[in-house]
Amino acid sequence: MASERIGILTGGGDAPGLNAVIRAVTTKANLDGYEVVGFLDGWRGVLERKTKVLTTAEVRDIHMLGGTILGSSRTNIAKIADGFEITLKNLEAEHIKALVAAGGEDTLGVAYKLFQKGLNVVGVPKTIDNDVSGTDYTFGFDTAINRVCEFLEMLRTTTQSHHRVMVVEIMGRHSGWMALHGGIAGGAHLIIVPEIKVTAKEVCETVKRRYDSGDSWAIIAVSEGAVIPDIMDDVAHNEKRDEFGHVQLGTGVGVAEALAKRIERETGCETRSLVFGHLQRGGSPSAYDRVLGTRLGVHVVKMIEKGQFGMMAAIRSGDMAAVSLEEAVGKLKTINMKTYDAAKLFFC
Ligand code: F6P
Repeated sequence: MASERIGILTGGGDAPGLNAVIRAVTTKANLDGYEVVGFLDGWRGVLERKTKVLTTAEVRDIHMLGGTILGSSRTNIAKIADGFEITLKNLEAEHIKALVAAGGEDTLGVAYKLFQKGLNVVGVPKTIDNDVSGTDYTFGFDTAINRVCEFLEMLRTTTQSHHRVMVVEIMGRHSGWMALHGGIAGGAHLIIVPEIKVTAKEVCETVKRRYDSGDSWAIIAVSEGAVIPDIMDDVAHNEKRDEFGHVQLGTGVGVAEALAKRIERETGCETRSLVFGHLQRGGSPSAYDRVLGTRLGVHVVKMIEKGQFGMMAAIRSGDMAAVSLEEAVGKLKTINMKTYDAAKLFFC
């Protein structure tokens, strides 16, 4: 008899560690007697039946590679006429016993809806933003904050030499995990996150104080999704939204550019802005993300074997766990305020 088939897809923005998950799911599932089918480019691959059978030999050592060998997209099944029906029909036609969806809140949100419609689906939490509830960390986050740390450190010499203020925009959508952790590690003098309201006036006062005290340079890390009330009229993101309705932060005039202009005008200090952008999620995964992706991938196959559908593999207090997709997508995970309070001690 042909072996049972497990499907896997990677959706949303790619994150370093995805290939570690693909390798782990394929290897563990093959060892346990399953065939593994990869769907290409996220939910689009399921809708269009674009598949690729994965074997242990093919995925050997890919945990060291960034991106995803399966490709990704922001295709939203809910936005397509009969999208859910087509998806379920196609998965049945491919004889998929269970589907692994590796993604952030959008991909996992679709997975949860499919579970409610009867699909045997399990999730793996992926995003550099670290904003998925129910898990202490998402893979991709560690690599991304290490990039931020490295870039901030590199900026120090040029910023200090020119006695400038440098405002750096950091990804992370509507949570400040990346700016906070990357900013602490990379020595930012001020960190602005969506969870804490700060005005441009307060930022200018902080910069002036720093210059008056003799330190005539500053690096400010600002989350792309930060809301700085007195400059928001100057922020103009690209009008285009993705299929999940998200504004494309980091395009058009972002918060860093608007803030930099205001700082220069109010303080007279030469100020520049910089968007780290997609460099933050490019390149090979950190050791931590390779390990986390591996652990989550092995665990999610065990969850399938136990019939824990509608659940997501997670890391909680160091151990692997299964949490409901409902909990995972219910609300955005915001920063730890104690970490923010610690960071504040080092502002300016
Ligand atoms: O969710 C991950 C993320 O990198 C966000 O931090 C960022 O806002 C967004 O994706 C960028 O999306 P795209 O790659 O579609 O421009």
